[in-house]
Amino acid sequence: MTQIRSRFLPTRQIENRLESFGTPLPPIETVPHHRCHAASAFHPSAFDEAVVLTVDAKGEYDSTVVWHATGRRLKRVRTYEHPNSLGLFFATVTEYLGYRMFNGEGKVMGLAPYGDDNPEIESALRELIDTGVDYDVTKLTKRWGTGHGVETLEGVFDRPRHETPGEYGQWEKDLAYTAQKLLEETVVDIAETAVDQFGTANVSIAGGVALNCKLNKRVRESPAVDDVFVQPVAHDAGLALGAGWSRQRPAAVDRQTDVYLGPEYETDEIRSLLETNKLEYAEPDDLERYVAERLAAGDLVGWFQGRMELGPRALGARSILADPRSADSRDRVNRFVKHRETWRPFAPSMLESAADRYLDDGQPAPFMIDAYDVHPEAAAELEAVLHPADDSTRPQTVREDQHPRYHRLIAEFEDITGVPVVLNTSFNDHAEPIVRTPTQALKDFYGMGLDLLAIEDLVVEKKTT
Ligand SMILES: [Fe+2]
Repeated sequence: MTQIRSRFLPTRQIENRLESFGTPLPPIETVPHHRCHAASAFHPSAFDEAVVLTVDAKGEYDSTVVWHATGRRLKRVRTYEHPNSLGLFFATVTEYLGYRMFNGEGKVMGLAPYGDDNPEIESALRELIDTGVDYDVTKLTKRWGTGHGVETLEGVFDRPRHETPGEYGQWEKDLAYTAQKLLEETVVDIAETAVDQFGTANVSIAGGVALNCKLNKRVRESPAVDDVFVQPVAHDAGLALGAGWSRQRPAAVDRQTDVYLGPEYETDEIRSLLETNKLEYAEPDDLERYVAERLAAGDLVGWFQGRMELGPRALGARSILADPRSADSRDRVNRFVKHRETWRPFAPSMLESAADRYLDDGQPAPFMIDAYDVHPEAAAELEAVLHPADDSTRPQTVREDQHPRYHRLIAEFEDITGVPVVLNTSFNDHAEPIVRTPTQALKDFYGMGLDLLAIEDLVVEKKTT
């Protein structure tokens, strides 16, 4: 009986696990999956009232949930149950294009702007799925996983699953474009319908599908929508945040302005590690100025500063930085550091005070969770951090209180170059997790073509002959 209970009751499973560690048992409560996502999107938004959309593949029995949120509570108003799942729809296209589900969706989004309207693909997909507020994608998603959906697409298009992910012809680009378009029109319609129903023009979004920054851009640009907050840890890693917040009154939660919730390491600890490893290092009097000068000279910099970011984006705590001003810089990051598909864009970190200078509809965007168009006259300054196909960008705006040292570095880079922006990509090799510890940072520094590592107050450099 105990075994049956422990197998099927999640609370009991957690208790067993903690017991096995010898940890004292705290009281355990469970919070539904989509309620966690919803709280993670609304509670830290600082909205008094909002429509909340939680959109993912599947959490318990739900795939998409629409909520009406006020300062007192979150009310579920419409549920789209699994398998009617937008996350699985996009995952199916992702698998069909040769990437893995729950992994390559961002690449499909990045591929989409290279595509174009393709009436044949679009009419075939519209035969399969209904879009909009009453969407139905179950012809593709009716069985868990993407096998059935991929087979269906293979039959409809009379083309096998793509074998060489990353290398695409125009047809695959058009498919990505069309899938993104249908996803956008569906979520925008759900948002606009709920805004109309509840009379609030604030929208909060979470769930794995909310990592799609182009989708978030479309919601923000809807004439029916005034303001959008997207939980930066939109996927299931953010459930813990939501579970905690869900027990509080939304109005009692402060606006979330950063994600620096991970571990940090003292300079002395790092100094000792470097000495143990017989590595030379220096301690510049003005680290930010020194690194800014090196960036302006074209060096590629590993930047390890303060508490690590929670979530999928490196936001100046575990980042690789480069000069944002030329496509050549982007190509060097690809060649020497990230070893990834050359068509994929990089993103910028910019001073928040410069958002207006570069971004259409520029506003604080501290999380790289939302895309923007760039003023055409300013685009030439940011060539390395624009999407090559549509000149959009996925910025991080930085304020001094969010990360003082990163803010100062960008300000110093502006002082030297006139451009208050750096290229920022995550500190990891291709398909690896972001580095967390100093040891991991050192391994990546020496495993990739980085020139300089700025790790807390210290710098490590490669000897060039
Ligand atoms: Fe989820």
